Amino acid sequence: MIDLHNHLLPGIDDGPADLEAALEMARAAVEAGITTMVCTPHMGHRYPETTGRTIQAAVAALANELRRAEIPLEVAAGAELTVEVVRELNDRELLDASLGQRGWLMIESPFEGWPIRLAQMIAELEIRGFRVIIAHPERAEAIQHSPDRLRDLVGRGALVQSNASSILGGHGRLVTQTVENLMRNELIHVFASDAHSAQWRPPGLEEARARAARLIGVWPQELEWMINDGPKQILSGGQVRPPRFLPREKAPPLTPAESAPARAPRRPRD
Ligand SMILES: [Fe+2]
Repeated sequence: MIDLHNHLLPGIDDGPADLEAALEMARAAVEAGITTMVCTPHMGHRYPETTGRTIQAAVAALANELRRAEIPLEVAAGAELTVEVVRELNDRELLDASLGQRGWLMIESPFEGWPIRLAQMIAELEIRGFRVIIAHPERAEAIQHSPDRLRDLVGRGALVQSNASSILGGHGRLVTQTVENLMRNELIHVFASDAHSAQWRPPGLEEARARAARLIGVWPQELEWMINDGPKQILSGGQVRPPRFLPREKAPPLTPAESAPARAPRRPRD
């Protein structure tokens, strides 16, 4: 499995403070079946020193340490960009900050408010050769109350990444129900850990897939793209085509998440 969003690099943002803690995180990821982590430190005004180039250098250094410690984990460079910083960077800087330097930009969802010009920004980025993944929108109040905001962005070719911990209940019932609601409406494409330490959001991609499948009533294999093939396509720089999930029940209308009832596991008909 490939984890497209995490804070594995030591001493660069609010991830692990030192190398030892980063190696502990890496071991936990390998144990959970993750083969590649795309390191996505925060890039924005809170971390003015961090650039795509500094992240790439830190990833190369960590790769050496992983080899030395005999931890079988591949690492690649990316970033979690604020909307503000994306507006300021030139094409070269954006490419350096993209996932695996293949052109996909991981953009952080703001916790409060919602950038009304995001759809236009996505369209402008596409003209410049970049695609966008919206990181964990289920945690944004604006999406919890108006999930339809994501439809326009996805319609413009954006993908949506949800945190594994969100569907596993780590952020409360409203967040879990928002993920379920978004999945039923085909508005989530990838699960990632957003791990910050071996304990703070540990890798749980397989568990997230199983829980999501149970909630929306599909076989777990139908969600394979979310944790494996999808991230692979994103990192390959080629065509990225998310499959339909085909939930067994008709999707409920997009209403505030509290109204979505919890569902018991159901067996597919065929
Ligand atoms: Fe993050």
